[in-house]
Amino acid sequence: MDKTQNSAWGGRFQEATDAAVEAMNASVAFDKALALEDIAGSLAHARMLRARDIINGDEHQAIEGGLQEIAAEVRSGSFEFTVAREDVHMNIEGALAERIGPSAGKLHSGRSRNDQVALDLRLWLRRELSALGGELGAVVSTLTQEAEQYASVPMPGYTHLQRAQPITFGHHLMAYASMFLRDMDRIIDARKRASVMPLGSGALAGTPLPIDRHRVAAELEMPTLTLNSLDAVSDRDPALETLSALSIVMVHVSRLAEEIVLWTSQEFGFVSLSDSFCTGSSLMPQKKNPDIPELLRGKAGRVFGSLQALLVVMKGLPLAYNKDMQEDKEPLFDALHTVRQCIGILPALLEAMTPKTQNMADALGDGFLLATDLADHLVSQGVPFREAHHVIGSAVALCLDRKCRLEDLSLSDLRTLHPAFGDNALEVLDASASLAQRDVPGGPAPKRVLEAIAISRAQLDELQKKVLAGGPSGIEKALHEGQELPK
Ligand code: ARG
Repeated sequence: MDKTQNSAWGGRFQEATDAAVEAMNASVAFDKALALEDIAGSLAHARMLRARDIINGDEHQAIEGGLQEIAAEVRSGSFEFTVAREDVHMNIEGALAERIGPSAGKLHSGRSRNDQVALDLRLWLRRELSALGGELGAVVSTLTQEAEQYASVPMPGYTHLQRAQPITFGHHLMAYASMFLRDMDRIIDARKRASVMPLGSGALAGTPLPIDRHRVAAELEMPTLTLNSLDAVSDRDPALETLSALSIVMVHVSRLAEEIVLWTSQEFGFVSLSDSFCTGSSLMPQKKNPDIPELLRGKAGRVFGSLQALLVVMKGLPLAYNKDMQEDKEPLFDALHTVRQCIGILPALLEAMTPKTQNMADALGDGFLLATDLADHLVSQGVPFREAHHVIGSAVALCLDRKCRLEDLSLSDLRTLHPAFGDNALEVLDASASLAQRDVPGGPAPKRVLEAIAISRAQLDELQKKVLAGGPSGIEKALHEGQELPK
């Protein structure tokens, strides 16, 4: 087998690393995604080392300058990552040494790759979750716009996928706005717990060097420090919590997608989707398929799989760091990429949907959707609900027998079933009237839907402010955007 000599731990080793071992051990192929976060952490750490006189001014200048050059190469894509240097941390440190010589070796004073990767991951999460928070906000905003437009367009609501009671298309859309608002809140919450600074925990037991953890946290705009060095280097809760929150996002995305697939079917015919969002069949000329909603539904699977993968990786690990934890990254990166892709396409998909309001209204006409309203009418006449339910059940049976609808019965038909039917009993058999009466907070009465839209928009405003407030530090922004570093 091929062997290579590793310089990071070469002192203790007499034999070189087996090439297959090197290939399996290396994570650079995927953790290079953390490169700019790694550099941000190193810049903050180096500033602290300088402030504590652990490195001198020249060394600090060389380190800061070298890291900035490397960041520019990472941004432009010209930085060459090599498997021989195993991971992103050693690739960057190695490149720094090539540029500035031995003082590069001082950067790792008081630091281990274990607390370094813990920091990088948290910075990366803070950045990604901030972006996702904003993208979820755009979905909520589109949903409220569409819901406002269709706040009084009646459609059947379902339980057990059987027509149940009238609602409006706007009310149905706002159900998803509620879900995505909760998702935004969960994402912001996960980000808050990720924004805790672990550097200074060392490999597992801190460091005897006179470092200043608060200084590093302040540079990186992280409000708090981790409290236990063992936990700090082996805690993957921020990744687990993110994957849990992402899985719930995908439950919502997938349910919405499933409904769009149903609604665009000929069987439902409630919605048409613009051609730009569909594909045809290479065989059946008449087909127009809702591929994008189907993919949104399908992509939920890989996100749930990522959560499962990391739960299993973590469940049996003794404290503190174990190399198993390197397996956290690919599922996490894939899940965030997948969810951001799905959330990113939703606003345009929602705008590409047009409700077929006549089909929705026709579907309301069959199926006794107003039977409960008739029962509620009897309740308003003083009849106990259980008895009213039974009476209306008989009315439905009578209709089935006569092959007619409830509104085709006469008042005297109804009164032979129960004497308490009022003169206005048949007036309740009108979908719009029924909707207007469902005038409870959170109910489908159009004015309540408009009220819910206003409240949701206010909540969205609050959440958007929070998304903006807890994002990446000035150092990270400068590195990502190629601006000058804050002093
Ligand atoms: N690539 C490693 C990871 O992602 C970094 C930490 C390595 N630490 C170590 N002691 N080998 O987990």
